[in-house]
Amino acid sequence: MREAGIMTGAAVAVDGERIAAVGPQARLEREYRAATRVECAHMVLTPGLVDSHTHAIFGRARYEEQEQRAAGAGYMEIARRGGGIHASVADLRSRTEDDLYALALPRIRRLAAYGSTTIEIKSGYGLSVEDELKSLRVISRLSKAVPMRLVPTWLGAHEIPLEYRGNDELRREYVDLLIHELLPVVVAENLARFADVFCEPGVFTIQETRAILTASRSAGLGLKLHADELEPNGGAELAAELEAVSADHLAAISETGTAALAKSGTVATLLPGTMFFLGRERQAPARALIDAGVPVALATDFNPGTSPTANFPLMLTLGVSQLRMSAAEALIAGTVNGAAALGLVHETGRIAEGFSADLALFDAQDVREIPYWYGDRRCRGTWARGMPCHVREESDNLNFLR
Ligand code: NIG
Ligand code: FE
Repeated sequence: MREAGIMTGAAVAVDGERIAAVGPQARLEREYRAATRVECAHMVLTPGLVDSHTHAIFGRARYEEQEQRAAGAGYMEIARRGGGIHASVADLRSRTEDDLYALALPRIRRLAAYGSTTIEIKSGYGLSVEDELKSLRVISRLSKAVPMRLVPTWLGAHEIPLEYRGNDELRREYVDLLIHELLPVVVAENLARFADVFCEPGVFTIQETRAILTASRSAGLGLKLHADELEPNGGAELAAELEAVSADHLAAISETGTAALAKSGTVATLLPGTMFFLGRERQAPARALIDAGVPVALATDFNPGTSPTANFPLMLTLGVSQLRMSAAEALIAGTVNGAAALGLVHETGRIAEGFSADLALFDAQDVREIPYWYGDRRCRGTWARGMPCHVREESDNLNFLR
């Protein structure tokens, strides 16, 4: 992760959806005389950022909880009172598919406006057959409407819905519903590429998580896991055991968890915006993970409860300033390793011949300025599969799209 492979004086040739060549500008200009030219001089072109963890399908915002936490309430305490994920569930269930689509579209465009061209999106605020399918269908419609590459994840196990929380038998019924009623439809309608579970004390246990993910794997889905977010409970170890493509959050990962991930090759997806926004002191041990040889990715966790931001470069800032990563490590975590966390390592996340033409252009002279100007929106344009997602015209001297 130390070497980002920065080039200067380079050009990128795009043919249709793919990168055709990368090399010295003079040579590519000779070879691609007829090409439409996008001037990137005095800027930094990166692979389109890969946001491998979002919960972008939701209804209303939950700003009231931010103040409640500031006044001393814990995240889990708010959830126990019927707020948190439960509040978003009640809200999402009251909305139509069209309504959710109309809310999500500008939100994912906003993600692209900050540099993301590949966006994983989870369901998980429906928690019933009908409402989970509704959420996943919104993602499927969105992917047909935007150039960005959207990767759908089924997170029916985001929370035990209130109506199943009464006793152990009801809990079991919900897990059964996920495995036997919902999963088969998700797979039959090809609505998700991954399954995910919020494995955390107070939410899904290790045993429940193992049951849901094992069934999902048998049904053909890749596996992801919200693991060791707030308290250590063996989530990372389970992700490694099941060969999940990623274990996400990990602010409370144990040493055995780190060792297990290092062996399995599972990507550790760190979400520093979440710990920042929740006001928690402990961030994931990125240095220990990287030093142990675990591939580390960064993502926004964009969601209404714990990380309401579309600003991926801000996650790179937190990666450097709070997780003590180098700028190169943060950039790789937001591109190559994000792609690995989505099983797309041969498709996106690198500017290399044959890769998808997924690119982001930043108003910066040095790649280190991307995490440096924190909170700023320096992204001047994004392209996914060679198509513009977002091009920003209002800059001082940069009317580059001709
Ligand atoms: O990744 N941890 C679980 N899920 C989300 C938060 C969801 C919410 O609070 O709405 C997360 O932080
Ligand atoms: Fe999450």
